[in-house]
Amino acid sequence: MHIAIVGTGYVGLVTGACFAEFGVSVTCVDKDEQKIAALQAGRPTIYEPGLETLISKGLREGRLKFTTNLREAVEQSLVIFIAVGTPSAEDGAADLSQVEEVAEQIGKYLNGYKVIVTKSTVPAGTGAMVRRIIGENAKCRFSVASNPEFLREGAAIEDFMRPDRIVIGCSDPEAIAILKDLYSPLYLIDIPFVITSVETAELIKYASNAFLATKISFINEMSILCDRLGCDVYDVARAMGLDRRIGPEFLHPGPGYGGSCFPKDTRALYHLGRTLGCDLKIVNAVIEVNTRQQERMIEKIVAILDGEVHGKKVGVLGLAFKPNTDDIRESPAIYIVSRLVALGAIVKATDPAAIEPASRVLTDVTFCKDEYETAEGTELLVFLTEWNKYRKLDFEKIKSLMQRPAIADLRNIYEPDYLKRLGFAYVGVGR
Ligand code: UDX
Repeated sequence: MHIAIVGTGYVGLVTGACFAEFGVSVTCVDKDEQKIAALQAGRPTIYEPGLETLISKGLREGRLKFTTNLREAVEQSLVIFIAVGTPSAEDGAADLSQVEEVAEQIGKYLNGYKVIVTKSTVPAGTGAMVRRIIGENAKCRFSVASNPEFLREGAAIEDFMRPDRIVIGCSDPEAIAILKDLYSPLYLIDIPFVITSVETAELIKYASNAFLATKISFINEMSILCDRLGCDVYDVARAMGLDRRIGPEFLHPGPGYGGSCFPKDTRALYHLGRTLGCDLKIVNAVIEVNTRQQERMIEKIVAILDGEVHGKKVGVLGLAFKPNTDDIRESPAIYIVSRLVALGAIVKATDPAAIEPASRVLTDVTFCKDEYETAEGTELLVFLTEWNKYRKLDFEKIKSLMQRPAIADLRNIYEPDYLKRLGFAYVGVGR
């Protein structure tokens, strides 16, 4: 089977490379010529473990192509995935202009029956809009489907190859059969398939992300109580998570969720509710708690610096919104560092992957090559991303390098007692 993927961002690129690995002929299309040139040379435009190997293999074995020529890609393909960006508009709604533009072009280039699938995260009702736009431009029969992705950055290939479920939203049996065939390597290993309407599939994606964000905001809220009561949120989360109805994942308190999905998707879901006359109170509270959580982190830092940030030397470990990615989109770390700088702190920072993107948005910050250089001469070391390499640091060395041994462990990487015993002033989140 030959398929096209329009948009070589995170989702499009991972999807394309993984389908090529399944043996499908894949053409990835993007209008960004520089991106396409890099990809043609086998250089991934995003940081994702394992992606470079898959791209090189796909290119070498001739199953993966990159082009700016949408017409050719559409003409050759039976299935066309739309995987372009759906950023937040100013009012929080999903900005669908790229989806609209691509749908119009696909419609114009249709040269026979094809299945057009939205993979971008889009509000319920977008499939109907795509169907209308393509219909206005096309001269042949086509089907529209929704097939949301649930890929985590940093683990996207593994998530694609072994997903918890595949959701296909489509009302046309012919198109459903084609998509099941495309996904047959996963069907054969008993991955559950949920076949439903286009609108339901679209909502499933938002509901899933909003629920995960709810778990995070919930445990972050519990961490406030733990701080007040002197309880240990780690034990609370662990005991809660052992209840199989709750489950252990997404109960790690921290500086709030970030990234390209949760903040944008919770806002878009809330906005969708409002446009339909439904005030989604839980979703709204989740967003509010997340914003407040970032502020609380500033309060913790101010407190451990004895109430005065101005002129204080602070080292920051971690800038990416989570480990194993260079993505800083809506990263709590970026917000917190910006606020510290605005409050007059002298900030040094490091990250194993995200220094380059962070240096474009953080001015007045000195970037360091590693954690020890970052700690040198500082009065506080703040952990903001839980990279594995930060899990076993030489604290004797760090203590000797710092001007004053103090740690704000905003990802709860270390046992508080361990660091206190070593002579550090310590603050964590809810413990
Ligand atoms: C998420 C979803 O997991 C994925 O299914 C979806 O399709 C895209 O969005 P991703 O944004 O890559 O994936 O990251 P994820 O691992 O879910 O983490 C999101 C944010 O939540 C990060 O900032 C992370 O640090 C934070 N988080 C996660 C917590 O603060 N606590 C947790 O327990 C889990």
